[in-house]
Amino acid sequence: MLHMNSRLLAVASAIAIFAPAAVAMGSKPAEDEDAVTARIAPVAKLNVVAPEPAKAGTTGNRSGEEMYNAVCHVCHAPGSPVPTSPKFGDKAMWAPRIGVGLDVLTKNAIAGKNAMPPKGGAADASELEIARAIVYMADHSGANFKEPTAGGKIASSERSPEDIAKAACFKCHENGEKGAPKLSDMAAWTQRASTGLDALTKSVIRGHGNMPARGGLADLTDGEVKATIAYLMKRVGTAQ
Ligand code: HEC
Ligand code: HEC
Repeated sequence: MLHMNSRLLAVASAIAIFAPAAVAMGSKPAEDEDAVTARIAPVAKLNVVAPEPAKAGTTGNRSGEEMYNAVCHVCHAPGSPVPTSPKFGDKAMWAPRIGVGLDVLTKNAIAGKNAMPPKGGAADASELEIARAIVYMADHSGANFKEPTAGGKIASSERSPEDIAKAACFKCHENGEKGAPKLSDMAAWTQRASTGLDALTKSVIRGHGNMPARGGLADLTDGEVKATIAYLMKRVGTAQ
């Protein structure tokens, strides 16, 4: 190795000395240019060994896809050996997470959660970049999040009624668990729907019988509760 380096150095200085001398004398170099290029090639190569600047967008403004490819894929790619991380494209693993909303997911990803380190280990990532990466992964896994825009705060409600229902309501209302009126039970819903959407909304916000307040999703807004009830009722065919 040492021998090799000193030889390259010798070649480099030989060219450095030889080239200006040839020009000063007004004569053509003894060798043609191709030969010189070939001889300095190893030296020229040495100059580009320094790492190239990252091709991804500027830090602070990377796209979700760039973030995923640079950081998140290590644990979230389908083939990742990390067992508990929701995998890219795995709708079943993402569904309950999508339901809690982009805002909460972003907070959790920034703070870190169980085996996931804060920001997935990318300490220099901005909140916006983390949110974009989540949107990129989640939207390829059944979500319908909108990409947050630079500057603006991430809207607290990026989840659709369907997302919420999947995350919070179906678990009781699909099979009638804990005595919940089943979605297939048209009669039960028609009866309840007769009190009106506003009354039902109040009832769900408060909690009712075996149903916890807001169906157990404490951070649901009143509007989200209402929209989700309307969605459920559409599913049983009694939408108002
Ligand atoms: C070192 C492995 C690792 C890396 C890197 C990683 N994650 Fe995770 N992530 C996990 C694990 C493990 C979980 C599951 C945590 C749990 O619910 O127990 C997770 C869960 C999540 C969740 C769901 C959080 C919730 O509330 O359930 C989001 C969102 C997420 N990751 C986003 C990201 C983003 C965005 C990146 C890239 C910037 C990233 N992760 C990089 C391991 C990782
Ligand atoms: C833990 C199980 C459980 C979950 C989760 C749950 N529900 Fe319920 N829900 C019930 C039960 C049980 C009832 C019937 C309560 C009664 O009439 O005593 C009910 C009743 C209702 C009613 C009728 C209320 C009324 O006043 O008659 C609506 C509307 C409703 N649920 C909507 C939802 C929505 C929307 C979600 C998700 C955000 C949800 N539920 C999540 C168990 C659940």
